[in-house]
Amino acid sequence: MKEKIRQINEEIDRLVAENHEHLEQLRIRFLSKKGLIPALFADFRNVAPEQRKEIGQALNSLKQKAAEKIVSLKDHLEQGSTAEASESDLSRPAEEINIGSRHPLSLVRNRIISIFQNIGFNISDGPEMEDDWHNFSALNFPPEHPARDMQDTFFIEKADDYKKQVALRTHTSSVQVRMMETTEPPIRTLSPGRVFRNEAISARSHCIFHQVEGLYVDKSVSFADLKQILYYFAMEMFGEETKIRFRPSYFPFTEPSAEMDISCILCKGEGCNVCKYTGWLEIMGCGMVDPAVLKNCGIDPEVYSGYAFGMGIERIAMMIYSVRDIRYFFENDQRFLKQFTSAY
Ligand code: DAH
Repeated sequence: MKEKIRQINEEIDRLVAENHEHLEQLRIRFLSKKGLIPALFADFRNVAPEQRKEIGQALNSLKQKAAEKIVSLKDHLEQGSTAEASESDLSRPAEEINIGSRHPLSLVRNRIISIFQNIGFNISDGPEMEDDWHNFSALNFPPEHPARDMQDTFFIEKADDYKKQVALRTHTSSVQVRMMETTEPPIRTLSPGRVFRNEAISARSHCIFHQVEGLYVDKSVSFADLKQILYYFAMEMFGEETKIRFRPSYFPFTEPSAEMDISCILCKGEGCNVCKYTGWLEIMGCGMVDPAVLKNCGIDPEVYSGYAFGMGIERIAMMIYSVRDIRYFFENDQRFLKQFTSAY
């Protein structure tokens, strides 16, 4: 009997519980009705009377020790780090991992990029802080030209000499200039990026937004090439049945200039409140690069011609996803952001 008590004591000292299930098995082994310790108590009546006092005490303290050990193992399991617990319990269900999602503006931008990459456009970018030359002057905005007022600008450095002014770029057309200055034609480039305008923030406009600029310069590029490429884009982006139309417009850096509309993606041209019952949605500005701009950038307009286009990413994202307020894109509210999985 004494030997058995000693063995069980030792065993209890060494006990470790791997998990709650294992702990329960240990409790049953030592303390349940048919467990080792109650069995010893059952044997107690066979102990010689002169040993009863000593063995009785040893048995009682063994029982107490076993009970305390079970409690302390339980505490340990519960306090132990989750990592420790999950390492040892392979049956534990996996914890849900919260995977982030792409921002809707990134989805739309990436979709636009891949459509143009498929036909040989490369991707370019320039600085968000621009000098006057790249944002305005090279693009044919004369100093007093009203078009400069069209774009209310955030100036970083205001100077008496407008040529020395530095501002946050008001459009990605500035990247056109940088590309033409540094690259020999043929140039076929797409420049996505963030732009800034000093505008009041409302449901329809923001002081920070995103544009994608496209530029193609080569020998004998014509307006027909521009129309065809934009038709391809519209079908890829909005669906094969999409129709396009061009309206004459004005930009200082293109001649001729146009606005391109697509047939309304919601009502397919029937007329609805999104297209204001016109059946058309304005999607981008475009035109043939003005020869003066080519010249400003060191490209001979007698040899080369080009087309350019520019569109707003927020505007397109709002159409595709039926988002009514541009501010949602900048608030980082998870409830909004997690709804978007693809730009199709
Ligand atoms: N830069 C113009 C804007 O911000 C958009 C634009 C119009 C870009 C016509 C172009 C273009 O390249 O050809 O409104």
